[in-house]
Amino acid sequence: MMLLLAALLGYLSGSVPYGLLLTRAAGLGDIRQIGSGNIGATNVLRTGNKKVAAATLLLDALKGVVPVLLLGALWGREAGLVAGLAALVGHLFPVWLGFKGGKGVATGAGVLLAAAWWVGLVCAVIWLVMAKVTRISSASALTACAAAPVVALLSGDFLLAGFALVLALLIIARHHENIRRLMAGTEPRIGEKTR
Ligand code: G3P
Repeated sequence: MMLLLAALLGYLSGSVPYGLLLTRAAGLGDIRQIGSGNIGATNVLRTGNKKVAAATLLLDALKGVVPVLLLGALWGREAGLVAGLAALVGHLFPVWLGFKGGKGVATGAGVLLAAAWWVGLVCAVIWLVMAKVTRISSASALTACAAAPVVALLSGDFLLAGFALVLALLIIARHHENIRRLMAGTEPRIGEKTR
């Protein structure tokens, strides 16, 4: 019962589409009609408004952090992990947007940071290094996702490694269009509108 409630609360937290709400509030239009059409910070940056993009990144990450920490502290580690996974699912498939949500990078990072801060930190560093080298957000995210379960496994914590694997697979699956563009060499660089 507790786990079910944790899943519901996590989902509700994750399902708030901050990128869409903030771009609308800032008068930047409907983010789903801009760039890749994604509601995440990378696409919000394509509007040219760095502050709104940074706020989207922060809030999308926090909606993953808060349920894991809060419900984990209240009801134990498993409840925190269930809430974190549900938060990611809420971001990817928000009921409010007809289940068409984002790609889960910021929310997944928040969940991972809250579940095991050092795994999240290593993945964030991998993202940053890849972003510096490639200037491509999706390629950086895909690399960090591939690394996450391996990094988690290094601790010998199999529950954490399995959890990281599920998060990574969900995020990678939502990047199918990016993967196609990466293979075609048409994926835009960070901040670029189109290529
Ligand atoms: O964080 C999402 C990123 O990996 C890709 O975003 O807008 O380029 O599809 P976008």
